[in-house]
Amino acid sequence: MKNVVLLGPPGAGKGTVAARLAREFGFLHVSTGDLLREEVARNTPLGQLAKGYMERGELVPDEVILSMVRQLVDAKKGILFDGFPRTLAQAEGLERFAEVDLVIFLEVSREEVVRRLSSRRVCSRCGAVYNLVTKPPKAEGICDLCGGPLVQREDDKPEVVARRFEVYMKDSAPLIAYYEKRGLLQRIKADRPPEEVFQAVSEVLRA
Ligand code: AP5
Repeated sequence: MKNVVLLGPPGAGKGTVAARLAREFGFLHVSTGDLLREEVARNTPLGQLAKGYMERGELVPDEVILSMVRQLVDAKKGILFDGFPRTLAQAEGLERFAEVDLVIFLEVSREEVVRRLSSRRVCSRCGAVYNLVTKPPKAEGICDLCGGPLVQREDDKPEVVARRFEVYMKDSAPLIAYYEKRGLLQRIKADRPPEEVFQAVSEVLRA
């Protein structure tokens, strides 16, 4: 089973496609954003440390992220890394405890991600992700899956989105060239409907 990295700007659709890939291909889905939000919700020491960085749209320090991910790596199962690695130091750190077989880069314009993030809503109980435009819940403000209330993520406010995008361009975009040089990168056009993105990624995974 392969270890796959999903790369792309904030709001590219990494979490959306990863959730379905995990179900249909049997990956262990490792989303560092989801893991950190759980830590914040439980008010653990790690959550307390991460909270400020996340609220400002900054990256949590590399060594914190690497030690969190390292504990989850299970050699028996293919892993789908979502939102990790996000810096060159994280990519190099990852290589010390797991092999990367494929990197899928979701290409989408800044205008489109800003649109998507402003209309994203998430379930405050189970974390399911919706979009008021492209994936509305059946009943307004209520999660289809668990009936929990839908909220806007704090870091989806416009000023934080702008900072997240800057951080992405400075710290994470260099990973595109890093993995391209290693012959691992596959580009997928992600400014199209979720079903088409899923099919395109699935084809790459089956190749
Ligand atoms: P994280 O949660 O990883 O945020 P992100 O990478 O900015 O990604 P998002 O979750 O915002 O977007 P996504 O690409 O998953 O898109 P989604 O599928 O939800 O990280 C949050 C914070 O945690 C960071 O800022 C940082 O502080 C910290 N952190 C996390 N990882 C870290 C790391 N490795 N190192 C350091 N710090 C770290 O889709 C977005 C919206 O669009 C949804 O509404 C969805 O329904 C909709 N949508 C999805 N696909 C489509 C489509 N094809 N067409 C139309 N709409 C779509």
